[in-house]
Amino acid sequence: MSRPSHILVTGGAGFVGSHAAEFYAERGAKVTVYDNMSRVSSLETADETRNTASFNRDYLEENYPEISFIDGDVRNRKRLFDVVEGHDAIVHTAGQVAVTASLNDPHYDFQVNAEGTFNILDAASAAESDPAVVFASTNKVYGDNVNEIPVKEVNSRYWYDSPEYNDGIPESLSIDDCEHTPYGVSKLAGDLYVQDYAARNEVDAAAFRMSCIYGPRQFGNEDQGWVAHFAISAKRDEPITVFGDGKQVRDVLYVTDLIDAYDSFLSDPTNKPAVFNMGGGPENTTSLLELLEILGENHGWEADVTYDEWREGDQKVYVSDISRAKEHLNWKPKVDFNEGVERYAEWLSTIE
Ligand SMILES: NC(=O)c1ccc[n+]([C@@H]2O[C@H](COP(=O)([O-])OP(=O)(O)OC[C@H]3O[C@@H](n4cnc5c(N)ncnc54)[C@H](O)[C@@H]3O)[C@@H](O)[C@H]2O)c1
Repeated sequence: MSRPSHILVTGGAGFVGSHAAEFYAERGAKVTVYDNMSRVSSLETADETRNTASFNRDYLEENYPEISFIDGDVRNRKRLFDVVEGHDAIVHTAGQVAVTASLNDPHYDFQVNAEGTFNILDAASAAESDPAVVFASTNKVYGDNVNEIPVKEVNSRYWYDSPEYNDGIPESLSIDDCEHTPYGVSKLAGDLYVQDYAARNEVDAAAFRMSCIYGPRQFGNEDQGWVAHFAISAKRDEPITVFGDGKQVRDVLYVTDLIDAYDSFLSDPTNKPAVFNMGGGPENTTSLLELLEILGENHGWEADVTYDEWREGDQKVYVSDISRAKEHLNWKPKVDFNEGVERYAEWLSTIE
């Protein structure tokens, strides 16, 4: 078991990718960030402070001048084949990240998430440096099957009404015979290619089906990154629309815990499963209303909330069963939700 020393981080100027780049740069590894800096265009309300990619890129350049930056697109196969060679690990986070945008432009979503992930795996398999790959997949690959699980209402939240799911959703939940979204499908295609390349021993690779990840340098909006979106909006006295009744529950994972899990896989990828559900698990859950309450009580950030219709396909409860990751990656979340929100709020106060 040894930690990789030459890491390529696609989407490294994004929220998750910049934390991966920082983690490895801190540990003396050679890091290459490959990002097309497109994040800003996915934010219709973008302004200077919400330009995630340039903010995170500036942060990395200031603090880790030894990181190399390549302005590149994962749709560019030829470029990737050149860039991947020489790296012994790839953290693949570049992606079209929002369900809403995927509905507006499913072809672009397909090209970036499905084909882009295929390109990464193909380039990794061709490279003589034999890089292991982790792919930032999503719990959305389960589509509407997660909504087949009965739920009950308990005070300010919903919860599973079936003891079978007390530990959350396992990797064995079916991905078939249900509605998906273009985003869910394009990510699932990437996820299946990861499994295929791993099963054929072409690449040591794993798909991490991530629930809500949050932490410093995340600029959420209504479409993606809701913990950050709620905190930023509440702090700025900007209105928040809650779709549904706000009792929907998610497990949430602090970003550095996610990177620890990636690192555990990349440092010892042989004979590991190719799929992991990844989130805070049953011990780190919150409903939307509960987060709003914490922001108000602990920080005086009282949100101006209006309620709207449920969004189609929205999950009343999604909690990851993280038993497999605990067992095979010798990993568990270290930062609990309350501590994580404190850290996020602290960071937010330093930038505004
Ligand atoms: N943050 C979460 O809660 C969460 C949950 C599940 C899955 N994911 C997945 O994790 C990954 C990272 O998410 P994030 O929150 O850091 O998003 P992010 O938008 O902050 O980062 C994505 C980065 O990818 C870059 N990018 C987009 N298209 C690209 C392309 N074609 N070529 C090269 N670079 C490109 C963007 O410029 C951006 O810097 C995404 O793939 C997302 O789908 C995130």
